[in-house]
Amino acid sequence: MSRYGGNDLRGSKGEAQYDTFSQQKDENLPPKQEYNGPPGMDADGLIETNYDKIVESFDDMCLKEELLRGIYAYGFEKPSAIQQRAIQPCIEGKDVIAQAQSGTGKTATFAISVLQKIDASLKQTQALVIAPTRELAQQIQKVVMALGDYESIHCHACIGGTSVRTEIQVFQTNPPQIVVGTPGRVFDMINRKYLDTSKVKMFVLDEADEMLSRGFKDQIYEIFRTMPATIQVILLSATMPTDVLDVTTCFMPDPIRILVKKEELTLEGIQQFYVFVEKEEWKLDTLCDLYETLTITQAVIFSNTRRKVDWLTEELQRRDFTVSALHGDMDQGDREVIMREFRSGSSRVLITTDLLARGIDVQQVSLVINYDLPSNRENYIHRIGRGGRFGRKGVAINFVTDDDKRTLKDIEKFYNTKIEEMPMNVADLF
Ligand SMILES: Nc1ncnc2c1ncn2[C@@H]1O[C@H](COP(=O)(O)OP(=O)(O)OP(=O)(O)O)[C@@H](O)[C@H]1O
Ligand SMILES: [Mg+2]
Repeated sequence: MSRYGGNDLRGSKGEAQYDTFSQQKDENLPPKQEYNGPPGMDADGLIETNYDKIVESFDDMCLKEELLRGIYAYGFEKPSAIQQRAIQPCIEGKDVIAQAQSGTGKTATFAISVLQKIDASLKQTQALVIAPTRELAQQIQKVVMALGDYESIHCHACIGGTSVRTEIQVFQTNPPQIVVGTPGRVFDMINRKYLDTSKVKMFVLDEADEMLSRGFKDQIYEIFRTMPATIQVILLSATMPTDVLDVTTCFMPDPIRILVKKEELTLEGIQQFYVFVEKEEWKLDTLCDLYETLTITQAVIFSNTRRKVDWLTEELQRRDFTVSALHGDMDQGDREVIMREFRSGSSRVLITTDLLARGIDVQQVSLVINYDLPSNRENYIHRIGRGGRFGRKGVAINFVTDDDKRTLKDIEKFYNTKIEEMPMNVADLF
């Protein structure tokens, strides 16, 4: 066994390398390694942490052979900055708070850690991952299954809107080793004793700041209370406001923290623009003018209410523009169809609410439109992060009325970023 608790498969020592900051300070150490990851994703200088090890290759992470094979088969070659930093402490069993910019690989960070730690021969739930939306929980479940493809692992998406009877059957006949779910259904299954948490050793909250915010916090505490006392907690998000970090001290006394300053959160690859539309009534025409641009690529349009999503969808369809819509008032079956069509590229323009602001990964999306500015600063970062995944290029366009001008300025200042007026040739940026 190596010091990280994994099997040393490829004869590498599994020694973690020390952070490049300290390397540069000490002249006896080898020079800093060149960054050769995706452009705009170099983490050096951006991360604040109390853990200074980085592991620059998956080979050196002392992972199970099947898992390593799963990672390479999935198409990953080199770990991203957050994967280089956070997988090891997660595998070491530490409580971890991992923040990293949108689209930089947080899912695989916890998925790899969870897969490494579970015992495939034990048919009991050993890891519980909670996400804020059904769509995100389903996406995570697929990533876990894909990375764990070479092991016989059962990972189950436990989400609302699906048949409770079928779900109960799953837990009774074939208990999943990993459960990825939304809080309501997960709590229901625990409460009714179908989901046995006595062997759960890892509790992961994706989009943790959202999960610990007003809407979800109580439910998360209820679930947390059913966990064994020795539970390891892992929190991930692109945003970690200080009030949320304060809350974490109640259940994570001494976590490893890998954080990003808010001024460093926007990605270089995502260009941000605004269009001054003056009045709410002029937004629709502006959007119609942009339609050609939307369809060059795949685009997500965010509006602030479900009703407005419906209204906007109808208005665009009435004008013969092809668009689809997704929000929380829709039937689960319809939600799944719309997501499938959008992921496959058969639908190219999706109008939605903040339901899809976080975590959703559709690599072909390169344009995000804020038809309405988001009602909180965090979701600005999450929304624009739906484009420009893993170092790809993205464009975000904000519609700004007279009343919005201040909010936009606040966002610019808060994140120390530049939101320029949209150029005429915006279509050339794709
Ligand atoms: N090491 C890697 N090599 C290549 N691609 C990767 C790697 N890690 C992640 N990716 C890809 O990057 C994309 C974004 O990853 P992921 O969804 O995990 O980002 P995230 O950090 O969770 O973002 P968000 O904050 O939006 O949730 C995915 O398509 C994923 O497959
Ligand atoms: Mg994510």
